[in-house]
Amino acid sequence: MRLGVAGLGRAFTLMLPTFLADARVRLAGAADPVADARAQFTSDFGAPTFDTVEALCASEDIDAVYVATPHQFHADHVCLAAAAGKHVLVEKPMAITLEECTRMIDAARAGGVHLIVGPSHSFDRPVLRAREIIDSGIYGQVRMITALDFTDFLYRPRRPEELDTQAGGGVVHSQAAHQVDVVRLLGGGLVNSVRAHTGAWDATRPTEGAYSALLGFEGGAFCSATYSGYAHFDSDVLMDGFGESGQRKNAADYGSARSKLAQALSPGHETAMKAARNYGGSAWSPAPASAPRAHQHFGPLIVSLDGADLRPMPTGVAVFADGAQHVEALDAPAFPRSEVMDELHAAVTQGKPPLHSGEWARATTEVCLAILESARTKADCIPRLQVQP
Ligand SMILES: NC(=O)c1ccc[n+]([C@@H]2O[C@H](COP(=O)([O-])OP(=O)(O)OC[C@H]3O[C@@H](n4cnc5c(N)ncnc54)[C@H](O)[C@@H]3O)[C@@H](O)[C@H]2O)c1
Repeated sequence: MRLGVAGLGRAFTLMLPTFLADARVRLAGAADPVADARAQFTSDFGAPTFDTVEALCASEDIDAVYVATPHQFHADHVCLAAAAGKHVLVEKPMAITLEECTRMIDAARAGGVHLIVGPSHSFDRPVLRAREIIDSGIYGQVRMITALDFTDFLYRPRRPEELDTQAGGGVVHSQAAHQVDVVRLLGGGLVNSVRAHTGAWDATRPTEGAYSALLGFEGGAFCSATYSGYAHFDSDVLMDGFGESGQRKNAADYGSARSKLAQALSPGHETAMKAARNYGGSAWSPAPASAPRAHQHFGPLIVSLDGADLRPMPTGVAVFADGAQHVEALDAPAFPRSEVMDELHAAVTQGKPPLHSGEWARATTEVCLAILESARTKADCIPRLQVQP
């Protein structure tokens, strides 16, 4: 696959080890307004770069575009790629509004291309394996799902719009996009009620930093999903000490996000601190080319079925059944996020419809927006655009 990249920022920096390790991928072009990032890309890949996503999409040498620009540009950039006949992998969250999601789906259909939204943590192998165990039927039905994640998300360097809910900021737009995607996949996809509270208790970071949501599913299962981006406690200790990317956490790093952020002198300085860590930035260095030791994850997760509780973990799925428990071990991934590339490759080369389609991701966005709405109205919200996996 000849892949074009729209946006050479943090998301691309995180995906780069995947692209470099996957022999099926060639990075064939990029668009970003930042000249240093474009220069780094040309130097690393000898491929053309462009000032605009429109110019990138006009390139004949590109089969698919990875859209990794800020949320507010996802809809326009996906529509440009689709209109140019390019398949699209667009970062989560799909978009900020349902109207934008529908526009993206329509554009992909009109362009005759596949639209995949991700990576989200519902691509993680242990989550997919838990779904297979559920589908096997041996433990009966899913009855309840419990998900939580405690991080310092809100204290990493941010652009101003990442701290403005209207512009797509806060943990509901950015992080519920992962957690809701995971629990929808495990709960059968069809959320039929949402009741939530959100927390915005740090006036210096004026957006939601935490939420707790109770989701009902068609068929009667229910889920509680809690996220804190204000956390001092790090819930990765409950994931055998593996971080979100499957890396070993270093206890000596405790508190480092907050102490580094304390050095930001202004919102502009904070934005520059974020950009400096990105691809081609002054504080960027290439990730070492070592395989991850474990799978990625999005915090502790328990799926309760009639006959067992399943616990997807970075190294396998723990199964707590009647009278016996065991761990179904999973080999460490050959490279991170290979599941995302498998889905994209199958869509582009074999026309296989993706699991993480536009319709799937729109349904996740609908639940995320319902979390915000329910917290505002103090009432249940009823999603209408839900789809099964
Ligand atoms: N899946 C994940 O784990 C993950 C992680 C980080 C970010 N993301 C997602 O990636 C997206 C980008 O977030 P980020 O943290 O990388 O932001 P960022 O600011 O680090 O990077 C955005 C990049 O897009 C570029 N850009 C801005 N406007 C552009 C335009 N009009 N055309 C082309 N490029 C443009 C910027 O110069 C920058 O290089 C968000 O939607 C975010 O949710 C996903």
